[in-house]
Amino acid sequence: MDKFLVHGGVRLQGSVAISGAKNASLALMPTCLLTNGSMTLRNTPNNRDLGTMSRLLGSMGVGMSLEGDTLTLDSSNITSHEAPYEHVKQMRASIYVLGPLVARYGEARVSLPGGCNFGPRPVDLHLKGLEKLGAQIEVSGGYIIATCPRLQGAHFHFDISSVGASVNVISAAVLAKGHTTLTNVAIEPEVTNLAMMLLQMGAKISGIGTTTLEIEGVDELHPVVAATIPDRIEAATFMLAAAMTKGDVTLTNVEPEHLDAVTQKLIDSGATVDVTDNTIRVRMDDTPEAVDITASIYPGFPTDTQAQWAAYMLTANGASRIKDTIYPTRFGYVPELQRLGAHIETGEGYCVVKGNHKLTGATVMSSDLRASASLVMAGLAAEGQTEILRVYHLDRGYEKLEAKLGGLGAVIERHRTEEY
Ligand code: EPZ
Repeated sequence: MDKFLVHGGVRLQGSVAISGAKNASLALMPTCLLTNGSMTLRNTPNNRDLGTMSRLLGSMGVGMSLEGDTLTLDSSNITSHEAPYEHVKQMRASIYVLGPLVARYGEARVSLPGGCNFGPRPVDLHLKGLEKLGAQIEVSGGYIIATCPRLQGAHFHFDISSVGASVNVISAAVLAKGHTTLTNVAIEPEVTNLAMMLLQMGAKISGIGTTTLEIEGVDELHPVVAATIPDRIEAATFMLAAAMTKGDVTLTNVEPEHLDAVTQKLIDSGATVDVTDNTIRVRMDDTPEAVDITASIYPGFPTDTQAQWAAYMLTANGASRIKDTIYPTRFGYVPELQRLGAHIETGEGYCVVKGNHKLTGATVMSSDLRASASLVMAGLAAEGQTEILRVYHLDRGYEKLEAKLGGLGAVIERHRTEEY
């Protein structure tokens, strides 16, 4: 078990390279099950969730190797069509193997994912979508058992916009027989990254980037060399950390257009943001002004960045209201920030962060990936030392976080600890 020790008060300065997107890689990797042979994914981040997905695919017979950020996956010898609980309990995105397995092998046995710290995480839309394509779905003993000799094209409408359900159903429809129309599809960049890669593999998809996809099923797909988009959530985290410490940081290997909502809110708070086609520079000289945000589906403000915005607003003049329309209970980070001296009130689906209060270092506990990022950021602005326990949450989605922050001047160390 690791912990971070952070000494606050340092202005972050310099440049930092952003890694590939965790939530794109997790969607792209299982597409190897749709084809035969060796595929390559460039710009793959090396973090804990990718390790979990690699172990899951490895347990099915996929051969993999990661050289730097280039991941090769060989699916020539698939030996299992099952995603056991031991993998799925570590990461709900393990369910992304369901669509490809049913589409290519006609069967899948995938453990139901559990919930997580910020609420129930149902998968009903994943299952309804596959059923609409003709899969027989049975749920028993904590497992989803899906069978179908050959999926058939259909029209499926997603009741609500769901990244994961869109990933699963798109990945299945590309091999279904006939035409599929999908409406109210998620348009997060990670879904677009997947659709573009499937197109490269020989899938027939039109409407990519919009909420309506028209898919003509094909009989087979071929392996490709594809690139994972940069991680917009890691980028947003560094942008806000730079502003929070009144720093001057340039992010490289980013896609600025994926961050419009965050960039606009940063500018509204008084930061200076300069972008080129693959860099973003954030400068902040004064105390930020409080700015409200509402987390919503893309291209709205990302729910995966609302905890980090709350941390940033701790240093602001005035009070800001933070609402999350996707996960109304995703405020588990509040009590931990309060341990650092934060003044935050929570309500139904929102919290109000009152700035202008000094933050003082303390020991705090990570609870989920993005909540942990908000604790690190608060530690960077707090007086004295902050000890952050259960850093494995952070390691799920941030590659070498302490090295990247250290490279910007932060005083942050990782220590092994028996403390849990
Ligand atoms: C993805 O989760 C991301 N994870 C999450 O990031 C992110 O917070 C979320 O999308 C929203 O943007 C990955 O990409 C691996 P959803 P996902 O399906 O797909 C409801 C992180 O920190 N819903 O878009 O699980 C659901 O309860 C993680 O990197 C159903 O009702 O999210 C939620 O309210 C955390 N039925 C809403 O839809 C379903 O079948 C959106 O969830 C599926 C979802």
